[in-house]
This record gives sequence, structure tokens and C-alpha cells, in this order.
Amino acid sequence: MKNKRCIVTGGCGFIGSALTRLLIKETDCQVLVIDKLTYAGVPESLKEVGLDPERDVDNDISTLNSQLATLNSEKRLAFLRADICDQEAMDKAFAEFRPDTIFHLAAESHVDRSIDGPGEFIRTNITGTATLLQAALKWWKQHPSFVFQHISTDEVYGTLGETGYFTEKTPYSPHSPYSASKASSDHLVRAWHDTYGLPIRITNCSNNYGPYHFPEKLIPLVILNCLDGKPLPVYGKGANVRDWLFVEDHARALMLVNEKGADGETYNVGGHNERTNLEVVETICRIMDELRPKATSYLDLITFVTDRPGHDLRYAIDPSKLMGELGWKPRENFESGIRRTVQWYLDNEWWWKPIHEQRYSGQRLGKG
Ligand SMILES: NC(=O)c1ccc[n+]([C@@H]2O[C@H](COP(=O)([O-])OP(=O)(O)OC[C@H]3O[C@@H](n4cnc5c(N)ncnc54)[C@H](O)[C@@H]3O)[C@@H](O)[C@H]2O)c1
Repeated sequence: MKNKRCIVTGGCGFIGSALTRLLIKETDCQVLVIDKLTYAGVPESLKEVGLDPERDVDNDISTLNSQLATLNSEKRLAFLRADICDQEAMDKAFAEFRPDTIFHLAAESHVDRSIDGPGEFIRTNITGTATLLQAALKWWKQHPSFVFQHISTDEVYGTLGETGYFTEKTPYSPHSPYSASKASSDHLVRAWHDTYGLPIRITNCSNNYGPYHFPEKLIPLVILNCLDGKPLPVYGKGANVRDWLFVEDHARALMLVNEKGADGETYNVGGHNERTNLEVVETICRIMDELRPKATSYLDLITFVTDRPGHDLRYAIDPSKLMGELGWKPRENFESGIRRTVQWYLDNEWWWKPIHEQRYSGQRLGKG
């Protein structure tokens, strides 16, 4: 991407921060991160690209103009703490920053939490997306090359049996409050395209993993429980299959779709890395046995727990449209990506320890 002005919503989250780091390190784009900083927002994830977690976290809409005035070819990242459901703030962010594009990632993202409390998922994922679409529509009328890119999930397609893949044509059949809220937001984005002509792209990706992943999700939870010597919870029999995507590969796909994708199109993102949950946990244990050996194997910590209600059996992406039409190829396979991830957690206690101690320390969520 060259010389663009990009809004990234949810830029202090797992995927949004990976995208923002790449945009700052590997392009000359200017980026405005918009994030409410919920429990899942971690400004420290942007420290390596210049966000100061002490100084910048309270930058609200009243400080936006002065912040934007400091942007130049050296300082290309600005931060706005705001709720995407706040229409006035979103309108102002568009009018002042004058974006060429928005990558919309802000969401409530954890299926288990959506089972315990769906309200916030409906508000942020559906109302928040509609609010942004309205702000974008007003701005696009002044800036016709603007593109709205929505980042969504393969969970909107429901579940697969033992065979087959999700394609862009698979009918929607979401099962959890999370996936239903994401399906709704996808429909809204398409509706703004079909009704008003707003230029859009949608990407639906498989499960991401990698550095800076909030420890409520399976892979970081297992790594941190290994380090704490705590049981490693595996839902049901561990037979559910997910198609694992290294987060930087995903971020690169998002930039490619933004640049080269066609208006109104959907692209599925996945790298053919299907693993059962049990295989994932066992792989982490074996890497931990090698990198942080102890008297007994980490495999002994595996504990089977009651399954998640409505747990989809298998997700698997057919990425041939993204690969064939746009030439995307993942750089990591599961073996290389998971090793990098475990090593990152071993090397970056400064990032996860405060989260682990103050925000989330591994308690079971979403039993229904
Ligand atoms: N993580 C995955 O494996 C995965 C897979 C498929 C799709 N997705 C989608 O990708 C996007 C990013 O996922 P993630 O894993 O990085 O999520 P995350 O939970 O790590 O981050 C979400 C970010 O959004 C912010 N946010 C939440 N509500 C907000 C609001 N009302 N206003 C402004 N900011 C708000 C949070 O503070 C946080 O920084 C989501 O839309 C998610 O549905 C994620």
C-alpha cells in the first residue's frame, strides 16, 4: 500500500495491532487507530510503532485535531480513544483525518463471552458497524476513491462435517451470538454497497494465532497455563477442527485485498492448516518440552473439560479466490508459526504478565 491514509478500528486488538504494525513498518501510510480500549484493547501492542501507552491512551475526540497536526513522514500513527457506536465522534474522525480507506476490525470477538453476555456483541458488532457505515457514506460522497473494508470470520458459514471447505458462496448459517453478530455486520456492509454504492471489500478469515494474542484464546491460554503449571483445558474430546492462520499472513492479506481486491467482493483468508484442538495443544506441549523443559512433560497437564454449548465441529477455508486472483500466499505453515508464537510468549513476559495478573487469568468462560 502506498501513501494512503488508513483508519484501523480495533487497532489495539490482536489482528488490528498486527495490521497497524505492518502498515507503519512496511508502508509509508498514515494510520489513525480508533479503539475504545475494552478489556481486549492493549495499547502496549503498538509500542514498537510509537504509541506511548502512558501518554496516548486518553487521546479522545477533543484532542484529535492537535494530534493529527503532528503527523508527518516520520510520525505516521495517531490514536483516538472512542466507541465506534458514537456517531458524532466517527463523523468527526472521518472529516478530520480524511481517510482513503478504513480497515474495520473493532469488535467483541470471543465466542465464549458472547454466550455469557451477548448484549455487547450486538451493540459493538452490529450497531457499531452501522454507525461506521453511515460515517463512511458521508465521507465517500466527498472522496470517491474511499474504500470500506470489513474484517469478518469464517464462523458466519456455520460448521462443516468431516470434509469440504467454506467458499465465498457458502450460505450463511451462524450458530453463536458472536458469529450471528458478525454475519449481521457482513450483511450491513453489503447492503450499504448494494443500496448506496459505497465501495467495500469483505474478508472472512479462519482462526488467527501469533504474537500479542489476548490470553483468553486457546493458543496463548495453553502457553501461559504451561508456564504456570496449570491444567490445559481441552473442550469435549478435543476433536473440533480449526484452520489456523498466522496473524501477519492475515494482515498481509488484508492489505492486498484493500489494494487489489474488486469492489463489492468477498475474499476468504486461510492457509490450509487444519488441526484438531487436541493436536494444537499437544504441539504446544512438545515445543514447551523442548524450549522450557521440566521434570515431566507438559502433555501431562492436558485436561478434558465440558464442551462449549453449540460448539461447531469443523471450520476449513478454501482460499483459492484470494490466492488465484490476488496472488496471496501465507509465509508461515502451522509448524513454523506455532513455534514463533511460543517463542514470542517466552520472550515477551512484559506484554502478557500485566494482562494475566490484572485482566484475565484463565478462568473458564461461556459454559452457557
Ligand atoms: N481472532 C480471530 O481468530 C478472528 C478470526 C476471524 C475474524 N476475526 C475478526 O477480526 C476482528 C479483530 O479480531 P481480534 O481477534 O483482533 O479482536 P480483539 O478482541 O483482540 O480486539 C478487538 C479490539 O476492538 C476494540 N473494541 C471493542 N469494542 C469497541 C468499540 N465499541 N469501539 C471501539 N473499539 C472497540 C477492543 O478494545 C480491541 O482492541 C474482529 O472483527 C473479529 O471478529 C477474528
